[in-house]
Amino acid sequence: MTRQFPHLCSPITLAGTTFRNRMFSAPMGGTDITNDGCIGPKSTAFYELRAKGGAGAVTVSECMVHPQTDGSHAYHLDTAVLNSLACATYTADAIRRHGAIPSLELSHSGMYAGTYMTDKTRQHEMCQWGPPTPSAPTACRCAPSPRS
Ligand SMILES: Cc1cc2nc3c(=O)[nH]c(=O)nc-3n(C[C@H](O)[C@H](O)[C@H](O)COP(=O)(O)O)c2cc1C
Repeated sequence: MTRQFPHLCSPITLAGTTFRNRMFSAPMGGTDITNDGCIGPKSTAFYELRAKGGAGAVTVSECMVHPQTDGSHAYHLDTAVLNSLACATYTADAIRRHGAIPSLELSHSGMYAGTYMTDKTRQHEMCQWGPPTPSAPTACRCAPSPRS
């Protein structure tokens, strides 16, 4: 039998980390991210199942790169929250105990930053970053990105 991806099940070492195979579970947003931006137990169980199923790496989804300016939907993780590191550690342990490597997707919503859905008071504290004449379909105040 000719295999289309002969190396798929072979280990690979990238930047000093060895992955048991080359099947990397893509980030999938959890549905029980808590209102304050931590990973809940159901999301942890979801990611753990991917590891148990044999993935080489399991990617936890959408951690904000800048909690003060980002946040565009309900399922963004927020590292500024005191409990978030502990929650992420539980999740990483749950993935690691089955031999997979935990990883985390970093996310910034650009011109959609500040459209935070779960906490409407916070939404108004945030600032959208984008082109000088923004066309974001929200009522948030906008500012040109530092680069533009
Ligand atoms: C239920 C679900 C949730 C997803 N959540 C995210 C997410 O939070 N962040 C992201 O970048 N992509 C997300 N995606 C997209 C996946 O990471 C992936 O790119 C997409 O499913 C295409 O890959 P596939 O062809 O292997 O399914 C999600 C996909 C699904 C099905």
